[in-house]
Amino acid sequence: MEIKITRTSNPKEKPDEGSLGFGKYMTDHMFLMNYDGEEGWHDARIVPYGPIEMLPTAVALHYAQETFEGLKAYRRADGTVQLFRPEMNARRMMNSNARLCMPAMPEEMFVEAVKALVKVDEDWVPHAPETSLYIRPFMFTNEGQIGLHTSHHFTFCIVLSPVGAYYAGGLDPVKIVVEDEYVRAVKGGTGFAKCGGNYAVSMIAQAKAEKMGYSQVLWLDGVERKYVEEVGSMNIMFKIAGKIYTAPIDGTVLPGVTRDSILQILKKWGYEVVEERLAIDDLMKAGHDGTLEEVFGTGTAAVISPVSVLNYKGDIVTIHDNKIGDLTQKLYDYLTGIQWGKEEDVFGWTVPLN
Ligand code: COI
Repeated sequence: MEIKITRTSNPKEKPDEGSLGFGKYMTDHMFLMNYDGEEGWHDARIVPYGPIEMLPTAVALHYAQETFEGLKAYRRADGTVQLFRPEMNARRMMNSNARLCMPAMPEEMFVEAVKALVKVDEDWVPHAPETSLYIRPFMFTNEGQIGLHTSHHFTFCIVLSPVGAYYAGGLDPVKIVVEDEYVRAVKGGTGFAKCGGNYAVSMIAQAKAEKMGYSQVLWLDGVERKYVEEVGSMNIMFKIAGKIYTAPIDGTVLPGVTRDSILQILKKWGYEVVEERLAIDDLMKAGHDGTLEEVFGTGTAAVISPVSVLNYKGDIVTIHDNKIGDLTQKLYDYLTGIQWGKEEDVFGWTVPLN
């Protein structure tokens, strides 16, 4: 693929690596590419980061025809940069796009675009411990029409943001409230796709949770409101009597790259992993009878996030005495060890930038 590069004449000052937070700063450049029915994907370019022109009637603005991804670039101790399983994000975006009636971007093209942009802004990959460069590819239609029809013109864009921890408290355990009023996904819907609409519908519950002093919500299935599915910004796993439970990928749950990686690690370490529906009542019972040993979320942004409290309709369970569990800490250290190049990558997950 030919990529035209126009470098900024006005590079920004880099933020202090000690207080990056999440998604607050953008690098100097972004990647853009267009699609239409006749030419397919064309006009790949890297340009200075800046506003994108949108038609007021763009279908993405009215009918949410948009998908996105999230992955990271990591600085190794020797100064080189690596990506983590970028082909998984490419494949997931293809699945999301198929559901949203959007064109496929071939895996090689997606990975090439990500690499090309990160190379241009390589200096922005932070060096401080616990930091990385968050990569946000997204696709939308800018086609203007108010009638509800499928679109033929799409834009693919990638922006980059140097980040620290997703939650302000870093690896401090987060409190989660189980949402029993609103639902996020039902089978046949878009729950498995990474599309903006899924996140828009979750915000009302997130706002409600924050008002109650909680960080996130745990979604139940949209039909019976009985089985645990995922958290607003991550998948979730429960260690009950030594076994690891997590919701199956069957149409309503996001197939997380971190989720998949953690399950592979757990299996390699000899843990029994149960990818089956887990009833909220059974989970709360385990919380009360002492068999719920650890709870943690998994996601690219959140990495591995210990959970200390679950609140279901006012019934509160405290996990691992409000402290990070031993397995959660071990998984965090091992996974981030691979990502930052401190652990041998026996799975073959990392991809060098150069
Ligand atoms: C990610 O983990 O990459 C996501 O896209 C979640 C988002 C809420 C930051």
